[in-house]
Amino acid sequence: MKKMLLLTVVFVLLTTTSAQTTTEVTTMQTVASQGALDGSKIQNANSTSFDWWYFEALSDDSKSFITVVFNLGSENFVNIDALFADGSQFTTTIYTEGAIIENLGQGSYGNFKNSGCSWITSPDLRSSSVNLQNSTAGVEGALRFTSVAPAHYPSDLWNVVDASELISPSLGWANAIPNAQVSVDLKLNGTYLKFHGVGYHDKNWGVTALPSSSRSWYWGHASVGQMSLVWFYFLGQDMQTYTSGYLSEGGRILALGDNVVVRPNGPNTSYPPLIGGSVPTSFSIHIKDKNGEKYRFEASGNVTSTLDMGGTQNANGYTRWIGRVIGGLDGGRNFSGPAAWEWMHFLDYSV
Ligand SMILES: *[C@@H]1O[C@H](CO)[C@@H](O)[C@H](O)[C@H]1NC(C)=O
Ligand SMILES: *[C@@H]1O[C@H](CO)[C@@H](O)[C@H](O)[C@H]1NC(C)=O
Ligand SMILES: *[C@@H]1O[C@H](CO)[C@@H](O)[C@H](O)[C@H]1NC(C)=O
Ligand SMILES: *[C@@H]1O[C@H](CO)[C@@H](O)[C@H](O)[C@H]1NC(C)=O
Ligand SMILES: *[C@@H]1O[C@H](CO)[C@@H](O)[C@H](O)[C@H]1NC(C)=O
Ligand SMILES: *[C@@H]1O[C@H](CO)[C@@H](O)[C@H](O)[C@H]1NC(C)=O
Repeated sequence: MKKMLLLTVVFVLLTTTSAQTTTEVTTMQTVASQGALDGSKIQNANSTSFDWWYFEALSDDSKSFITVVFNLGSENFVNIDALFADGSQFTTTIYTEGAIIENLGQGSYGNFKNSGCSWITSPDLRSSSVNLQNSTAGVEGALRFTSVAPAHYPSDLWNVVDASELISPSLGWANAIPNAQVSVDLKLNGTYLKFHGVGYHDKNWGVTALPSSSRSWYWGHASVGQMSLVWFYFLGQDMQTYTSGYLSEGGRILALGDNVVVRPNGPNTSYPPLIGGSVPTSFSIHIKDKNGEKYRFEASGNVTSTLDMGGTQNANGYTRWIGRVIGGLDGGRNFSGPAAWEWMHFLDYSV
């Protein structure tokens, strides 16, 4: 959903006072009817606004992984972060002057100027592809996503005209592709990264920098048996918890909305998270469907990136894991599948 680099950018920004140069008012889209689900959401960007498109692919064995993030904000860039099956990594950020973004039905086309990087999400949100062609940066090839789960906003499906797009009062979220069959065919710095697996694509946006609105955020997704699972568990600096749990099966929605509880597990962890607490070793995700049936899932795996963003005792930071989610209907059969998730926190940030 987000990249640690984005966080670094927003965090640095907060500590510098950059003057606003535009005279236009910065606004964000908040209701579905105002534009395409996968389109651009910010008008008259300023130094604290952000509008990013996140693409991710994870191999079925949870060993190969890549994220591609296109960010429009105080800085415009494409960040590519890849993990090869042998454990080696490739990461690069290509800064650009700006971008061409066009709506295509509910989908979009985005081309970051002179980066050689673009995406296209189909008007019906059933497929998406990311094209990376920049030999200077050492990136060539494509990621292709074929969706297996309907697109959604925090509490509504993509086709609800008056759906709110806000996960919290200051953060927009649109999940164009909650789960997909993905094929990755890339050459990164001379090494091939080719695999089939599970894919994911969403976007976030806002007009105020994340640390001033977000205290802690658990997000993740998994392909579990025939089920597609996405969780977003957000604690604002207002100490309110905002949640969205999404569960679908064979294209049918089982649960969507404010129906999920996510808890960290491991020594010295707590909810709400406290300064000085430890990084969780796993997460429990409990979702209630429309009929009140309970689903239980457990996410456990390995950390693939961490970022300490300062504060007393690592109070501010970011951790990402890849691994497996196991679970299903409470008391029923358990299923298992590849998953990726993250924790972002600004526990020591004075608003
Ligand atoms: C950017 O615009 C938003 C919305 O108008 C505003 O709340 C915010 O303070 C602005 N940021 C800066 C740095 O002026
Ligand atoms: C690309 O490969 C070269 C040679 O192995 C290495 O020095 C460089 O750090 C690599 N670049 C990236 C972005 O990984
Ligand atoms: C490729 O990336 C570099 C930065 O690594 C950038 O300067 C260049 O303009 C990019 N564009 C293309 C089309 O290669
Ligand atoms: C455990 O977490 C608390 C905050 O909840 C912190 O004050 C304490 O230092 C931590 N103890 C250890 C051993 O990490
Ligand atoms: C975590 O990494 C280890 C070592 O690479 C691997 O054996 C294990 O399967 C990974 N765990 C998960 C849940 O992917
Ligand atoms: C499913 O997993 C949960 C949690 O790990 C466990 O308590 C439960 O017994 C499992 N159910 C079955 C049917 O194996």
